[in-house]
Amino acid sequence: MKQATKPLLPGVGNYYTVKITDLNSNGEGVGRVNDFVTFIPETIPGDLVEIQISEVKKSFARGVVIRLIENSPDRICASCAVSKNCGGCQLQHMEYKAQLNWKENQVNQALQRIGKLDVLASPIIGMETPNYYRNKAQLPVGVKDDTLIIGFYRKGTHDIVDYTSCNILHPLIHKTAVAVKEVLAELEIPAYNRRTKQGILRHVIVRVSFTQAKLMVIFVTTTKTLVKQELLVEQLTNLVPELVSIAHNINPRSSKTILGRETKIVWGESYLIDTIGQLEFAISPASFFQVNPIQTEILYDKVKEYANLSGREVVWDLYCGTGSIGLYLASEAKKVYGVESLAAAVLDAEYNAKLNKRTNTEFICGRAEDVLPKYADTGEQIDLVILDPPRQGCESALLETISRLEVPKLIYVSCNPTTLARDLAYLSAHGYQVEQVQPVDMFPMTTHAECVVLMSRVKD
Ligand SMILES: C[S@@+](CC[C@H](N)C(=O)[O-])C[C@H]1O[C@@H](n2cnc3c(N)ncnc32)[C@H](O)[C@@H]1O
Repeated sequence: MKQATKPLLPGVGNYYTVKITDLNSNGEGVGRVNDFVTFIPETIPGDLVEIQISEVKKSFARGVVIRLIENSPDRICASCAVSKNCGGCQLQHMEYKAQLNWKENQVNQALQRIGKLDVLASPIIGMETPNYYRNKAQLPVGVKDDTLIIGFYRKGTHDIVDYTSCNILHPLIHKTAVAVKEVLAELEIPAYNRRTKQGILRHVIVRVSFTQAKLMVIFVTTTKTLVKQELLVEQLTNLVPELVSIAHNINPRSSKTILGRETKIVWGESYLIDTIGQLEFAISPASFFQVNPIQTEILYDKVKEYANLSGREVVWDLYCGTGSIGLYLASEAKKVYGVESLAAAVLDAEYNAKLNKRTNTEFICGRAEDVLPKYADTGEQIDLVILDPPRQGCESALLETISRLEVPKLIYVSCNPTTLARDLAYLSAHGYQVEQVQPVDMFPMTTHAECVVLMSRVKD
């Protein structure tokens, strides 16, 4: 039998010519040097590049581009001034159509390789205009050359790239970020230093309501009081009349988590209100809300289509956040239960139910894997379970419960094809069949791929 030959390791500092054939999940181009997988930042499939190897690990190497020998047909000139340094987007230099093809392919590859599933996703639904779609910016604050800067982290670091403009943020967020920077510099509020753990202001978060064109700003500080609060509020609201709410979040911990446990409104309203479809949603400073409201409506409409409710069904919306998916379906269901681990989001969900007069809903605070078995053991009817977990996917205990209960229909909304494929593989091996997979591009210019999957029970 012929032995598989080991690829010859590339040497650090050596030069090679490489054809890029794929992207990894960080948006780095993937090529092969002596058949050894090599990641090359700032390249895209189709590029032919001369590279120098910068590091060699056990299963991959990394190289830097010395010269672009041949451009990929999908390469474009990024219209964003900071795209080379900023870690927010990874694909500004790639034609949008090619981004969509790559994401669709990512989903199919995950389903086939990880999920071992013989299914093909429907063509991905992209945006007509894939810019200025984000309703939220989380801007770290720092100091450079004795000047306060706010911006985004440089790729793979905690260095801040100073904010000048952004192609994916809503224009009102841009206006606010520029104003915040001006006011903070004027008031000389000390930035928090991650290394020395000294200083006050850690992050500025800006959220916008697309439909109402109103804004909320959240200052995250290490201190219990917001320094120079009155001046800060006065100057900022003068510069940005669209501001309706200013909040203060206290985060004294040295962890990477942006928000601390305590948030108070220091000026204006407690919520921003935005509309998805026919429904209004209240968004409080700390709660999760989909960042791309235009595509969210498309995503939720797909969930509604897959749910195909008649008015007699009992629906469980697990990982429900502020209750948005469940509320979107409630007018067509007998009863909707929402389960969410974050208490503040549950309060928002209850408020949202009242706001939209959805009286057939009930929201429960707890972990989906703990709550569902407890309620299910009462023997109550469950017709549809919706799963919309964070990137790490569902706990296996939850999937076991769903399978044990023989829920007839599942809809899985996922922002991570890898964990989606893992969970679908489990469900497929435990009585379910994947009926449809619909990728929706919620995050243009980035490598993130979102999907809605319909599954039905096939085994009694
Ligand atoms: C991807 S978001 C989905 C939110 C919502 N479905 C929407 O469309 O806006 C995931 C949510 O799951 C919540 N979460 C995380 N782990 C959880 C768990 N074990 N049980 C219940 N909720 C959880 C998070 O707080 C977050 O609100």
